[in-house]
Amino acid sequence: MEKHVLALQLSQLLGEEFSREWVYSLIETPKQEKMGDMAFPCFKLSPTFRKSPQDLASELAPRLKHDLFTRVQPTGGYINIFLNQSLIAEHTLKKILTEQEDYGKHSFGEGKTVVLDLSAPNIAKPFSMGHLRSTVIGNALSNLAENCGYETVKINYIGDYGTQFGKLLAAYKKWGDEELIRSNPLAELTKIYVKFHEEAKQDPSLIDEGRDWFKKLEQQHPEALKLWKWFKDASLEEFNKIYQLLGIEFDLTRGEAYYNDKMEATVDLLKEHSLLSNSEGAEVVHLDEEGLPPCLIKKSDGTTIYATRDLTAAIDRYQNYTFDQALYIVGHEQSLHFEQIKHVLGKLNFPWAQDVKHISFGMMLQDGSKMSTRRGKTILLEKVLEEAIDRAKVNIEEKNPSLENKEDVARQVGVGAVIFHDLKHDRRNDVEFSLEDMLTFEGKTAPYLQYAYVRAQSILNRGGFEINSGTPALNDEQAWLVIKQLRSFPEIVEKAYKEYDPSKIAKYLLDVAKGFNQYYASVKILNEDNHLDSRLTLVYSFSLVIRKGLELLGIEAPKRM
Ligand code: ARG
Repeated sequence: MEKHVLALQLSQLLGEEFSREWVYSLIETPKQEKMGDMAFPCFKLSPTFRKSPQDLASELAPRLKHDLFTRVQPTGGYINIFLNQSLIAEHTLKKILTEQEDYGKHSFGEGKTVVLDLSAPNIAKPFSMGHLRSTVIGNALSNLAENCGYETVKINYIGDYGTQFGKLLAAYKKWGDEELIRSNPLAELTKIYVKFHEEAKQDPSLIDEGRDWFKKLEQQHPEALKLWKWFKDASLEEFNKIYQLLGIEFDLTRGEAYYNDKMEATVDLLKEHSLLSNSEGAEVVHLDEEGLPPCLIKKSDGTTIYATRDLTAAIDRYQNYTFDQALYIVGHEQSLHFEQIKHVLGKLNFPWAQDVKHISFGMMLQDGSKMSTRRGKTILLEKVLEEAIDRAKVNIEEKNPSLENKEDVARQVGVGAVIFHDLKHDRRNDVEFSLEDMLTFEGKTAPYLQYAYVRAQSILNRGGFEINSGTPALNDEQAWLVIKQLRSFPEIVEKAYKEYDPSKIAKYLLDVAKGFNQYYASVKILNEDNHLDSRLTLVYSFSLVIRKGLELLGIEAPKRM
């Protein structure tokens, strides 16, 4: 509200060319408390006015007036604004009390659909850290989208097709042990797959065998098909255990193979648009004008590939969902692939090609280099999650052995730690894998936030807080920081979605909790004076924002722990 007031007044003073939206977008929050609550950088205006930012600030400041502003002060090239704390506090707490579960919600996505392509592990391979990143980032983005009014469709595009399955089938025929595979499918299948690559270095004829088995699979040879189905079902069963632990569900689980009989239509469409060229026996779409290497559509042996399937899947998704945005949450090593896909869709004249977005993320590194199944360098995610839950259990046994639903709470805390560890980093950065970091419960972690929530709940219980009893007029200095933070929640949510950046929420929650802990340390919240209700309302508001923020990240907040 105060930002809108400021933007409106400034744009009126400055004249038509300075829109309210433009001014609004430039409003800053000063780093230091003593510099005020909002600031406008006047050097953004100097090019037009041919005056120094200092002069502009001094001229404009006295003309900005509103009940919400207690002081408007030119400082350097900035106009600094101090807000009326009691008015803002009252407004904020009232808003939270009225909106409750709707606090932080937006409606700008109403009537629109976002399709998210997330997780997408490959069958017969372990669920990797990269797939974990895609899963938790994608899930958080989907929660954020919903919170902004969008319909969301979460699709798990399982990697269940491609020449590598020919290799796997060949490896199985050579070394596969049915019993072993039944008891531990992913690990055993990975083992023979790795072995295949090792042995193929000595014996190149293995590669031909792999190719033959892939051909059989393409021709729906019964044995190939049966084995492939078995590997697929067994893999999905293991993936589902992980999704259950993470508390994540999909609207659609649909593998690449689903598109096998739909790809010819895509190839025809490319032909109709005269986009296909022959290049050394393969069919490609040239992307020279775009400055990209050609997009391979059909290999010289006639088999279609990853790109063909993604093109087909995108067209199919648009037909089914008429999406406003299609987000692909996939590591940045696939950036070129998605650029190519987008351009080829553009060349097919699909106006929605521009709404296809690759939401890329950095790699999980191990000793500075990429983890890879082929080199056998993977850490099993299920083990990480189990370890996290075990540690949470040990913690509970030490601190609160009589807690109800210990199992549940341990899962919420352990899994929360792993999810938050990922989401607090800017998704674009690479992350060095460290089990220790992932499993700490102190410092900047989910358990720290969960604990802050639990403590707030207990204060509310002890204070006998009831939602309608609050008279939210809070005028103490210490509460101000917390109020301001709680007030910015809706804006942070909007930014986090628009910039596809869940770390904004994670960092925000850490700040709010820190602010609240300072408040808690300096004020006797449960003191029986006539501000008790207001303070409890603040505690309630804090707990609501923490819980909702964690929920947006896909993390549960236990009531006790
Ligand atoms: N299964 C692929 C991999 O593990 C990721 C698929 C991403 N989604 C897509 N539509 N291409 O690398």
